[in-house]
Amino acid sequence: MNALSDLVSVRAWVDEARAIAVLTGAGMSAESGVPTFRDAQTGLWATFKPEELATEAAFRANPAQVWDWYASRREMMKDVRPNAGHEALARFQQRHPGRLTLITQNVDGLHQAAGSVGTLSLHGNIFDDVWLDPCMGAPGCGGVCAVSRAQPGRPPACGDCGNLLRPGVVWFGEMLPAVALAAAEDAAQTCDLMLVVGTSGAVWPAAGSAHTARHNGARVVVINPQPSELDDAAHALVRATAASALPALLAD
Ligand code: APR
Repeated sequence: MNALSDLVSVRAWVDEARAIAVLTGAGMSAESGVPTFRDAQTGLWATFKPEELATEAAFRANPAQVWDWYASRREMMKDVRPNAGHEALARFQQRHPGRLTLITQNVDGLHQAAGSVGTLSLHGNIFDDVWLDPCMGAPGCGGVCAVSRAQPGRPPACGDCGNLLRPGVVWFGEMLPAVALAAAEDAAQTCDLMLVVGTSGAVWPAAGSAHTARHNGARVVVINPQPSELDDAAHALVRATAASALPALLAD
């Protein structure tokens, strides 16, 4: 089946589908100028070591280095805009309320910026700050560190107990947000079509939702210009980019 016929047959599956789940990864935002993680040469992990920048241990070992790296990514992401793929998903949700559940591994907030509703963010949001530890109970804190009292720094720290602020993303080895994960699992179990867009499928449990969908009888479609680790879970492979395929598949 070549890409063209896949688009046509997948389009028919979209029209037939009662409940659609969409799982997106970094490739979804590539055409907005956000680097992916594992693309050769251009992916972040081609230049940086995830174990030195995206784990709690790395942050505790060198908070300034990790904070600076996220600060540089935030700076870059501040100016990116949703692409035609993000917009096609948001418009489909507006036209067909409750019919499409969006599950993302992305921390860039571009689905939300495009107007998507109820986006299940499995890996957090890079623009959020959260406290590294529970409050260390200094008298000034009253048991809860206040961001408003944080002392500037790389990273900022609680002025009372010294607790550090960290980016609100899920690092390797950390638990995913339980509510979003449970809702994503439910969407994967109950959908009759899952579109897997712009992910290598290298990271679990997010990648597992494609197998869950297939296991529960849904049709699974992978949209990715390159082979991915989820191709074997797919009924159709669309070798195209997110911003080119999604408008064609989701337009009314
Ligand atoms: N459209 C669709 N897919 C694309 C595009 C595009 N324009 N450009 C690249 N891709 C595909 C690549 O072929 C690759 O398979 O997107 C995928 C990106 O894969 P990764 O870089 O591994 O990103 P992702 O799957 O989201 O990574 C999962 O790993 O590093 C962690 O927490 C991070 O959420 C991330 C998780």
